[in-house]
Amino acid sequence: MTGLLDHLNVKGLTLKNRIVMPPMHTGLATRQGSVTESLIEYYARRSKMLGLLIVEHSYVRLEGKLSKKQLGIHEDNLILGLEDLSSRVHSVGTPIVIQITHAGQEASKEITGLDPVAPSPNKGARKLRTDEIESLIEAFVTAADRAMRAGFDGVEVHGAHGFLLNQFFSPLTNLRQDGYGGSFENRTRFPLEVVKRVKKIVGGRLLLYRLGSDDLDPAGVKVEDSRKFAVQLEKAGVDIIDVSGGLCGSRPKQLEEMQGYFVPQAEEIKKAVNVPVIGVGGIKEAEYADRLVKEGRVDLVAVGRELAKDPDWTLKAAEALRVQGKNR
Ligand SMILES: Cc1cc2nc3c(=O)[nH]c(=O)nc-3n(C[C@H](O)[C@H](O)[C@H](O)COP(=O)(O)O)c2cc1C
Repeated sequence: MTGLLDHLNVKGLTLKNRIVMPPMHTGLATRQGSVTESLIEYYARRSKMLGLLIVEHSYVRLEGKLSKKQLGIHEDNLILGLEDLSSRVHSVGTPIVIQITHAGQEASKEITGLDPVAPSPNKGARKLRTDEIESLIEAFVTAADRAMRAGFDGVEVHGAHGFLLNQFFSPLTNLRQDGYGGSFENRTRFPLEVVKRVKKIVGGRLLLYRLGSDDLDPAGVKVEDSRKFAVQLEKAGVDIIDVSGGLCGSRPKQLEEMQGYFVPQAEEIKKAVNVPVIGVGGIKEAEYADRLVKEGRVDLVAVGRELAKDPDWTLKAAEALRVQGKNR
C-alpha cells in the first residue's frame, strides 16, 4: 500500500516522498523583492528529505505585491538570487517550484505606490480593462519564464486565498458582465488563459495550480464548482492540483482546529481528475498524513506551519513511520 514515504513520479520527476512544504510567505526577501541569504538558509534547512518544496508567493508585477518584504519575480535582475535558491535546494536532492501571484484587490497603494486592480471595483481597487487582462497574462508568462531561467523544476500559479485569479473565479468578487465574468465559463476564463500560456513556457517541467476550492460562503465558490474547474485545469495542462481555501483564506477560524481541514475538498477534487492532488490544512501528525495517502484520499500532503516551526519535521516523521512499520 502506498504511504507518505513512498516516492511519486510526476512528468519524469521523482518526488522522493509525499511530503510537500506548501508556499508560505517568510518576509525574508529584501524590500525590492530579492532573495537573501537568510531566505536561502530558511528553505535549505527545511528541504532535506522533503518530497517537494513550493517557494512562497512571488509577485509577477509590482502592482500585485502584497507586503513589504515579499519575494518578487517581476524583474529579470531577480533571477540570479532565485537561481542561488534553486541550486541550494537542489544540492540536498529536493525538487523546488515557485508560486507566482498577483494580489489584485488585496494589494495596496501604500506598499506598491500604484492603484490596486480587481475584476470589479472593490476595496478601493479599480476594475481591470480587457486589454489589461491580456497584459497581466503576459506578466504571469514572463514570471514563469524567469523561474525556468532560474532553474526551478516548475511553477505554481496562485489561484487561492482571495488573490487576483481567485477574485475572478469567485462570484463574490467577480461582478463583471463581459467575457470574464458572470457564468462559470467566463469566471474561469482568465485563470485558464494564464495556465494555458504558462504551460507553453514550463514545457516538460511541473505546472501546479493552487485552487481556492471553497469560499465557505453560501453565495461563493463551492467544491462542486471547483471539481468542474479542476477538470478544466487538468485539460489545460496542470500537473498537480494543490487544493486550499478560496476567499475564506488559507486558515479559516471555523475550521482551523480540525487536522486536515481542506482535505475533504481535495478528496472530492481527486475523484474528478487523474493528476495528483495535494491536501492541506492543520496537519500535524505523520501518522495522520500517512493514513491520508494510504487511504487514497490525497496523493501528496502539505505540512506548512509545523515545518515552519520545526525544520526537522520531515526527518522525525520518516523516523516515526519507520519505527511504527517495524513494530507491526
Ligand atoms: C505565515 C504563512 C504564510 C503563508 N503564505 C502563503 C503563500 O505565500 N501562498 C499560499 O498559497 N499560501 C500561504 N499560506 C498558507 C499555507 O500554504 C497553508 O495552506 C496553510 O498554512 C495551512 O497549512 P498548515 O496548517 O499546514 O500551515 C501561508 C500560511 C502561513 C501560516
